[in-house]
Amino acid sequence: MNTVKPRGGRAKTIYSCTECGAQSNKWAGQCGSCGAWNAMIEDVALPRSPRNARFTGYAGEPQIHTMADIESLVEVRTATGFSELDRVLGGGMVHGSVILIGGDPGIGKSTLLQQTMAALSERLPTLYVTGEESLQQVSLRAQRLGVPSARLRLLSETQVERILALAIQEQPKVIVIDSIQTVYTSEVQSTPGAVSQVRECAAQLVQFAKQTGTALFLVGHVTKEGALAGPRVLEHMVDTVLYFEGDGSSRYRVIRAVKNRFGAVNEVGVFAMTDRGLREVSNPSAIFVSRHEQPVPGSVIMVTREGSRPLLVEVQALVAESHASNPRRVAVGLDQNRLAMLLAVLQRHAGVVMYDQDVFVNVVGGVRVTETAADLAVLLAALSSLRDRTISNDTVVFGEVGLAGEIRPVQGGEERLREAVQHGFKRVILPKANAPRRAVEGVEIVPVSRLAEVLDCL
Ligand code: TYD
Ligand code: MG
Repeated sequence: MNTVKPRGGRAKTIYSCTECGAQSNKWAGQCGSCGAWNAMIEDVALPRSPRNARFTGYAGEPQIHTMADIESLVEVRTATGFSELDRVLGGGMVHGSVILIGGDPGIGKSTLLQQTMAALSERLPTLYVTGEESLQQVSLRAQRLGVPSARLRLLSETQVERILALAIQEQPKVIVIDSIQTVYTSEVQSTPGAVSQVRECAAQLVQFAKQTGTALFLVGHVTKEGALAGPRVLEHMVDTVLYFEGDGSSRYRVIRAVKNRFGAVNEVGVFAMTDRGLREVSNPSAIFVSRHEQPVPGSVIMVTREGSRPLLVEVQALVAESHASNPRRVAVGLDQNRLAMLLAVLQRHAGVVMYDQDVFVNVVGGVRVTETAADLAVLLAALSSLRDRTISNDTVVFGEVGLAGEIRPVQGGEERLREAVQHGFKRVILPKANAPRRAVEGVEIVPVSRLAEVLDCL
């Protein structure tokens, strides 16, 4: 328990909800305010100082305006040097915006920000505040990255008041706080990383960013459950929330916008981690599809979607005679239950039986496909392997398969089609409802609405 006596009063233990930040005097299994279960944790009450009143009260005479009175500000955006990062930010970094970057430890958050800041420091005054690593560690990394960082200014400090005092003096245009869980304020007397600390520090930093027009990147840790550690209120306080994710075994990293006041959400940027830092992958479709010289049985190319961006991936299946009493169903990068369901649909509606076969399905390149648009590709790959028949390697498929054996439309059919055409595919098998009204030049469109029609495609 980290209840230390706050200034000018008795230590008061309260309970804060990690979901909505609501506070209560008693612990409860369910938050009375937002209804979240198991979210109340022990905390220390904020002393009622005028500083804290700042966030609840408004100074000056309030005034009501009509929309017409309000001068619309032009958002000033700066390119970060990574076009993939600019894309998720909605077209560059907005001055005065606060961006929270979350991700597992070791995924590359510090690397990404250090590379970005090195590029930015050539054009703008910047400040990189590190609370986790020593200055030596940061400079070692800079050497390894080979980025020009002579002008990047570093600060190893964790007290938010001292950070802000220096920031006021130095007037940087971009600040990185790596990470928000390590900074603390003397206003709140709990340990760094506690809900009230994180919230109060973030509030002070956000206020500074808004008042001075400084762009602020906050690095946030991710808990085991996958949510940003610290209160969810942090997500409400910032303009943009980005998640940096990737498969531990793969060198590809995806940065995803889950909230963005200055752009679209679910936008993704793709990077590859190399021995010299992160490199952007501007044409991800090219890396995930290995075009075979000759078509091979069991390989099907599909168009999936990552955010608003269509992505070509290869689905491979291997169907081999099983000698076990329980044939194996293994799906890598796909949902295993979905695979079992698709095989059942195949048996029931097309009479293709695989109960005496082991079925392995894999998405090439360590990509995870969670959307149902992969159904058709999985089905065709399994069929192709079972019958040892190939699908020509200039064919692309996408579509959802229903339990009644119907082929259902998926979102973003038009973009998927465009991506396939752009990469030179000549034949697209797709749900009838997704078929374009007009013919597309140089591409054969194969609309399907029933499973039986799919079987004819092989
Ligand atoms: P880091 O940016 O420190 O992660 P985070 O700040 O998200 O915790 O990334 C560290 C990982 O990246 C580490 O496992 C080593 C790897 N890495 C490279 O592969 N190449 C590089 O050039 C660098 C700097 C790191
Ligand atoms: Mg780090």
